[in-house]
Amino acid sequence: MKHLIVGGTKGIGKSIAEHLPYDDEKIIFARNESNEIPSNATFYALDVLSDELPELENLDSVIYCPGSINLKPIGSLKEDDFLNDFNINVIGAVKVIKKYHRDLKRNNGSIVLFSTVASKIGMPFHASVAAAKSAVEGLTKSLAAEFAPSINVNCIAPTVTDTNLAAHLLRNEKSREATAERHPMKTFLQPNEVAALAKLLVSKEGKNITGQIIGIDAGIGSLK
Ligand SMILES: NC(=O)c1ccc[n+]([C@@H]2O[C@H](COP(=O)([O-])OP(=O)(O)OC[C@H]3O[C@@H](n4cnc5c(N)ncnc54)[C@H](OP(=O)(O)O)[C@@H]3O)[C@@H](O)[C@H]2O)c1
Repeated sequence: MKHLIVGGTKGIGKSIAEHLPYDDEKIIFARNESNEIPSNATFYALDVLSDELPELENLDSVIYCPGSINLKPIGSLKEDDFLNDFNINVIGAVKVIKKYHRDLKRNNGSIVLFSTVASKIGMPFHASVAAAKSAVEGLTKSLAAEFAPSINVNCIAPTVTDTNLAAHLLRNEKSREATAERHPMKTFLQPNEVAALAKLLVSKEGKNITGQIIGIDAGIGSLK
C-alpha cells in the first residue's frame, strides 16, 4: 500500500509513519526536513498552504496531521487567529483532498483527518481551535457521504498528546501531573496510541468505519 502522511515528521504523524507496515510505501510532506524520517519514506519539503502539491499516483491513504492549539480568551483572539486556525486545519486538508481524491477513489482508499476533544465538550479558551476543528468534523461527515462506497473518511479527536504542539501544556512536571489528573483515566496520550488508531482506519479491517469522529481522550470527552 502507499500512504501520504502530511505532517509525518513530528508528533502523531511521525508515529503513524513508524506504525504503518514497514513494506508499505510512505510519502511525507512537511515544511522542514527531519533526520527522523523513516528510511523507506519519500519526503517533500513543502508548505501545504502556499506550495503547489506534487503529482502522486496510486495512493491508498491520505492522513492529514497539521493542526494548531491556539488557546486564548476570546478578548485576546484576533480575527486573524480564527483565519489562521481555519486555514491550517481545514483549508490545508481541503487542498490535499481535492488534489488526490480521484486517485484515492480508484484504489478504494482512506482519508484520516484530526479534530480535538475540545470540539465535543466546551473548554475555556478553545474558541478558535474548536471552531476550526468542528469544521473538520463537518468536512469528514460530508466527504464520507460523498465518497462512499469507494473512500472511507474518518476523523480522530484526541485529547492532549505528548508532542511539540502540546509542549506548552506539558511544560513541566506540575503541568503534566495536572493534565493527567483532569482525565478520568488519569493520563494524557502518547503519539503511538493515536497512531495505532490511524493505522486501523487506513487498513482493510477499517474499511467499513466511515464518517466517524473517533474520540481517543482518556475519558474526558464522555465521563464525569
Ligand atoms: N498534540 C495534541 O495535544 C493534540 C490534541 C488534540 C488534537 N491534536 C491534533 O492532532 C494533529 C497532530 O498533532 P501533533 O501534535 O502531532 O502536531 P505537531 O507535533 O505540530 O506535528 C505537525 C506536523 O505537521 C507539519 N506541518 C505543520 N504545518 C504544516 C504546513 N503548513 N505544511 C506542511 N506540513 C506542516 C509539521 O512539520 P513542519 O513544522 O516541519 O511543517 C509536523 O510534521 C493536529 O491536527 C492537532 O491539531 C493534537
